[in-house]
Amino acid sequence: MMSSPRVSKALIPAAGRGTRFLPFTKAVPKELAPVVTRPALELVVDEAARVGVTDVLFVISDGKAAIGEYFRPNVDLEAALEAKGDTDGLAAIRHAEGLATYHYAEQKEPRGLGDAVGHGAEFAAGEPIAVLLPDDLIDERDALLGPMLDVHAEHGGIVLGLLDVGPKEISKYGCVVPAEGADPGADVVGIADLVEKPKADEAPSTLAIIGRYVLPPEIFAALRDTSPGAGNEIQLTDAMRALCRAGTPTHGVVFAGRRYDTGDRLEYVKAVVRLAARHPVIGEDFRAWLGEYDPGADG
Ligand code: UTP
Repeated sequence: MMSSPRVSKALIPAAGRGTRFLPFTKAVPKELAPVVTRPALELVVDEAARVGVTDVLFVISDGKAAIGEYFRPNVDLEAALEAKGDTDGLAAIRHAEGLATYHYAEQKEPRGLGDAVGHGAEFAAGEPIAVLLPDDLIDERDALLGPMLDVHAEHGGIVLGLLDVGPKEISKYGCVVPAEGADPGADVVGIADLVEKPKADEAPSTLAIIGRYVLPPEIFAALRDTSPGAGNEIQLTDAMRALCRAGTPTHGVVFAGRRYDTGDRLEYVKAVVRLAARHPVIGEDFRAWLGEYDPGADG
C-alpha cells in the first residue's frame, strides 16, 4: 500500500563557505567545481531528475550568483554556438537548463545545514522533500535516491541514505541506532534514534548518514524548535532526532555502490580521476596515460 505521494521536490544546500577549497572558493562556489567538465552540482541535479524530481530549490548565499547563471539559459552563448553549428556545445550547455525548474532561496549567514534546509519551508508547501548535499556524488550506475523514494512512498516519514563506514570512520558522521530486531545487514533498516559523531567504542552501529535525505513537512517546525549548537549552527540531525523520538517513521537505505566525497580535497581529486577514466571522449587516452604515469619519476 502506498501511504505517501511520490516526492517531486528537492532542496540542495549550496550556501556554505567552502573553506576547505580556499583560495578558489573566494570567487567561485565550490559546488561548481568541475568533475572533469561538469560541475558536481549538475551531477547531483541529474541524479534527482533521473528519479522524477521536477523542482529544485538551491539555497545559496551572497557570492554564489554563478550557480543561477549556470542553470539559466544564456541566450548570447546559445546564439554564438548555433551560428558556429556547434551542436555538441549547445547540447552540453542546454543539459543543465532542462533538468528541472529551478528556485532559489538566500541563506544570509552559514548557520548550518539545518538552517539551510529551514529555508525550504515555503518551497515545500506542506509536501515532503528530498535533500541532496552536492558534496556527495553517487555514481550514476548505482541507485540510492530512487530506492529511498520507494521506501518513503511505503512508510512516509524520514528516509536517510546510509553507508556502512566501519568502526574507524563512524566518529566523523551522524550515526543511526537500528530499531530493535532490525537486521543491520539489510538494505532497508528501521531506525530508532540518531547519534551525532559517536566515539568509535560507543557507536550504536557503523551505519553513517550520508548526504541524501527524504524529509516530511514536519521537519520545518522541528527545525524552528532546534537551538543552535556548536559554532552557532543549527544541526539537521538534531531536528530529525526530535521527530524520530516523537514517533515519525524513520528508515535508512544502505548504499552499497560507488560514492565520491567531493567536499574533501583528496577525495575530490580521486573522483576526477575515476570519472575521467571512463569519460566518453578522453577516457581511453587518460587510462593509457595513467597506466604509464610514475609519480616518483615526475620531476
Ligand atoms: P559542508 O560543511 O560540507 O560545506 O556542508 P562548507 O561549510 O561549505 O565546506 P567547508 O567545510 O567550509 O569546506 C555541506 C553542504 O551544505 C551547504 C554547503 O554549501 C555544502 O553544499 N551548507 C553548509 C549550507 O548551505 N549552509 C550552511 O550553513 C552550511
